[in-house]
Amino acid sequence: MTADAASTFPLVQLRQVSFGYPGSKQMLIDQADVTVDRRQRIGLIGPNGSGKTTLLHLIMGLLRPTGGSVLFKGREISSKEDFRLLRRSIGMVFQDSDDQLFSPTVLEDVAFGPLNLGLSKKEALHVSRRTLDNLELSRLAERVTHQLSGGEKKLVSLATILSMQPEAMLLDEPTNNLDLATRTRLTAILNRLEIGYMIISHDWDFLTETCDEVYDMNEGKALRSGIDSLHSHRHAHVWGDRPHEHARC
Ligand SMILES: Nc1ncnc2c1ncn2[C@@H]1O[C@H](COP(=O)(O)OP(=O)(O)OP(=O)(O)O)[C@@H](O)[C@H]1O
Ligand SMILES: [Mg+2]
Repeated sequence: MTADAASTFPLVQLRQVSFGYPGSKQMLIDQADVTVDRRQRIGLIGPNGSGKTTLLHLIMGLLRPTGGSVLFKGREISSKEDFRLLRRSIGMVFQDSDDQLFSPTVLEDVAFGPLNLGLSKKEALHVSRRTLDNLELSRLAERVTHQLSGGEKKLVSLATILSMQPEAMLLDEPTNNLDLATRTRLTAILNRLEIGYMIISHDWDFLTETCDEVYDMNEGKALRSGIDSLHSHRHAHVWGDRPHEHARC
């Protein structure tokens, strides 16, 4: 397939994908259909333990489905090499930043991906410094990664993905540990990006500010949830953490 032909297909599609962890009798992911595409901005919500992180790991090939198929640019894939190519196009910001960051300094961590993609050291450092600059993180470049605060680690994790210039991103609870100002900065960063993404979050307001559609993880499936019923709140009330409609006056 030519590059042009491949670009007419969605980046990734999970078709009727099922998955259960070894030893569990029930399928955690049960014939789920999910599409991640270049400009699509999708939110994914759902209770703790409902399988959201597992779903992202299935998309990335970190876990393999027990049923169904994964398509990358229109082609069904299964080999390690296929998933390696997929991971060149799609970056994932992990729920736990310590799973993502492993280099001694921030700059080395951000440069790791570009170096791995074949850039020279000079090019990799250039693109990494530019990425840190775009995220207003330049002041952290020489810091020891494991000494960063939780929120700083989240943003640096994002930088390690963006420095590879992915076609789409998966973000697992990116607002965890972020204070309000940093969360607002992350919202602005995401809204400036011209790539697609899927964000797992329990924060409805964050999803309405950054996504065009929201899926609800329910009984092993990611089901479209009405974005119309999601809206930003500056007040709290009994239904504040669930989607709902207000009576029209
Ligand atoms: N490696 C594993 N082996 C066995 N069970 C696992 C494993 N990883 C996760 N699970 C279980 O699978 C279920 C789904 O986990 P997952 O991390 O996908 O949930 P989640 O929707 O991301 O939850 P949260 O909102 O708390 O992050 C949970 O019950 C979890 O305990
Ligand atoms: Mg999770």
